[in-house]
Amino acid sequence: MILLRTPDDMLAWSKSRQASGKSCGFVPTMGALHDGHMALMRIAREQCDVVVVSIFVNPTQFNQPADFETYPRPESEDLAVCKACGVDAVFMPTAELMYPNGYATMVLPEGVADSMEGASRPGHFAGVATIVTKLFNCVAPDRAYFGEKDFQQLAVVKQLVRDLNLGVHVIPVSTVRDHDGLALSSRNARLSEKERVAAGMLPTILTEAQAMARDGHQSSDVVTHVSTRLRDVAYSRVDYVTIVDGDSLATVDTPGTKSVLAIAVWVGDVRLIDNVSLLGEPLL
Ligand code: PAJ
Repeated sequence: MILLRTPDDMLAWSKSRQASGKSCGFVPTMGALHDGHMALMRIAREQCDVVVVSIFVNPTQFNQPADFETYPRPESEDLAVCKACGVDAVFMPTAELMYPNGYATMVLPEGVADSMEGASRPGHFAGVATIVTKLFNCVAPDRAYFGEKDFQQLAVVKQLVRDLNLGVHVIPVSTVRDHDGLALSSRNARLSEKERVAAGMLPTILTEAQAMARDGHQSSDVVTHVSTRLRDVAYSRVDYVTIVDGDSLATVDTPGTKSVLAIAVWVGDVRLIDNVSLLGEPLL
């Protein structure tokens, strides 16, 4: 496994890889790698000749400086995880190299980027779209793997690839969950023991929402139930609860086969997001 620390080195490596005719699968991450990231790497490993992982805590997508500063950065553990997953190259640049003095270009997604995370975290998706564009240019992948846990990010990236003709196949990967159903996230490590127990209620509440949708309830009833239940979770503060069409992300009045319930909730100082297909497989 080769470690590349500069965009120029990554580009040069990608050029010779392209010349070799080998297909490339790319997994962009911010590190603090867990089983969710590993699922993306494993599928990339199965589907592509060469696998590249990027590890870069991207400052432009954090709308709260404290969140950026406290984001975990366990470099040597992350490299060991990549190696164990059979990754060929890790791209791990510094912020100074990705955004040098005088850097002045951003990619500004609209449409599917406007609601939910876009509304709650101003500038977040501009940061994501910008770094994903830059990473795609450095790595030149055939396929890129994104988790359904961040399902709005997945929609933003699909729109980005379509709108800017990036020519990368975007492959969605199912959310990997902990023993109690909580979606794995690098931020879970920042939950105290009691907060982690409280956060375990989230999948239960999402499963209740699925049961209500199957029973034919309207979206407004489901949203009211989920909001009330989330407010009762210890240490919680609800950011949003919404039911949207899985493709357009427009809100829907009556849950259908493509409807997704998405939530964002603070548990203590940690902001957690999750989502569930309302008429899909039960989580628990
Ligand atoms: P990060 O949060 O590190 O996530 C990297 C990828 O792993 C994303 O595609 C995310 O959806 C996926 N992922 C995270 N938790 C998962 C889980 N429990 N199950 C399945 N997949 C999971 O998302 C980002 O980084 C950044 O925004 C990035 C795209 C790298 C741009 O900076």
